[in-house]
Amino acid sequence: MANLFSVPGRILSGEGALEMSGLYLKTFGKKALIVTDEMMEKLGNLKRVTDVLEQAGVAYAVYTGVSGEPTDEMIEKGAVQYKADGCDFLIGLGGGSPIDSMKAIGAVVSGGKNIAEYMGGIIDQKLPPTAAIPTTAGTGSEATQFTIITDTKNNVKMLLKGPSLLPSLAVIDPVFTATAPQSVTAATGIDALCHAVEAFTSLKAFPLADSFAVSAVKRIFRNLKRAYDKGDDMEAREQMALAALEAGISFNNSSVTIVHGMSRPIGALYHVPHGLSNAMLLPECLKFAVSGAEERFCELARETGLYEDGMTVQQGAQVFISAVCDLCASLNVQTLAEFGVDKEDFFQNISKMADDAIASGSPANTRRQPTKENIIAIYEALWK
Ligand SMILES: NC(=O)c1ccc[n+]([C@@H]2O[C@H](COP(=O)([O-])OP(=O)(O)OC[C@H]3O[C@@H](n4cnc5c(N)ncnc54)[C@H](O)[C@@H]3O)[C@@H](O)[C@H]2O)c1
Ligand SMILES: [Fe+2]
Repeated sequence: MANLFSVPGRILSGEGALEMSGLYLKTFGKKALIVTDEMMEKLGNLKRVTDVLEQAGVAYAVYTGVSGEPTDEMIEKGAVQYKADGCDFLIGLGGGSPIDSMKAIGAVVSGGKNIAEYMGGIIDQKLPPTAAIPTTAGTGSEATQFTIITDTKNNVKMLLKGPSLLPSLAVIDPVFTATAPQSVTAATGIDALCHAVEAFTSLKAFPLADSFAVSAVKRIFRNLKRAYDKGDDMEAREQMALAALEAGISFNNSSVTIVHGMSRPIGALYHVPHGLSNAMLLPECLKFAVSGAEERFCELARETGLYEDGMTVQQGAQVFISAVCDLCASLNVQTLAEFGVDKEDFFQNISKMADDAIASGSPANTRRQPTKENIIAIYEALWK
């Protein structure tokens, strides 16, 4: 069976990648809108980018209105500013939230519709050139054709997609991730692990995407705890940034499955950060998914050196899943109750969350097909 494999237009990675990006950014247009958040301004990351633009002789405007995970309202404001300031290309600087916002603003200014009108369709009109500069090692949004925006009217995290959303340029410079606090390092690192594991065990997996998924899982197993324990371990930070990119490439091509499908409704209703809701769900979802994909999970055990001679495929799969659960536990992931979610309210919303999870299409990529009842049972198990 033939498969399409897509990646961003260009990828710059390693120390000095940001400085190198000036060469490419100056060919993108006359004036950039930098889409970012206030934290990037505070940390001096915005200045790092504007210095590069000034050196390259490129004008810019700045939109720092991404406060938290992006909503339709933040996108509309950014699109208004893009037009008012006469911009002709976009730069997203930050975690997945500013990068997703940048893509959505690109879709709105090129397509002339509100962002929610793209739900269920394919975004394929020509966007202005887009450059993604990630500062978390997690979402892989710099390498995906997705943007996730909350529809505030319906309380749904929309998964919007289309080939035009793949950035023209991805800049993976380790200078940025060292300042991420432990909670962000843990949540975003587990997000990347979910991308890679879900892509590798997805019904849509194929060999080229598998290579990126396996490489990402190996790097994450070796480096996530190191980066969490010691934020200034630059070797671990650089490896995690590469892992997040590889994981993004893998799921951009093979798709995510049940964890991401069930995670978005929790984020939409309870504002649990994306990586954290994935982390909360990961052990229960893997317990469910393993019986449809034992050979694939066992392969991950072999690749990570966890498989021992004489193990059955089932034992190999279990040993990998246990290692994932141990890694999550070592990163002190909060439970829903610890995060402050009200149990009664959660149970009242379970049916809607299960419907929204199924409607996103992601759970159907799982090799063991989940029913609505299965999904409800997993949501309930998060409270046991
Ligand atoms: N498009 C995709 O393919 C894709 C994939 C997965 C997730 N997502 C989306 O990405 C969003 C989450 O992105 P995220 O997890 O990267 O978090 P984020 O962008 O929301 O950032 C989380 C927090 O960390 C701060 N931060 C970011 N980088 C920092 C740094 N280097 N130092 C200090 N603080 C830093 C931010 O200011 C923010 O307060 C969600 O909306 C999720 O749905 C998109
Ligand atoms: Fe994710």
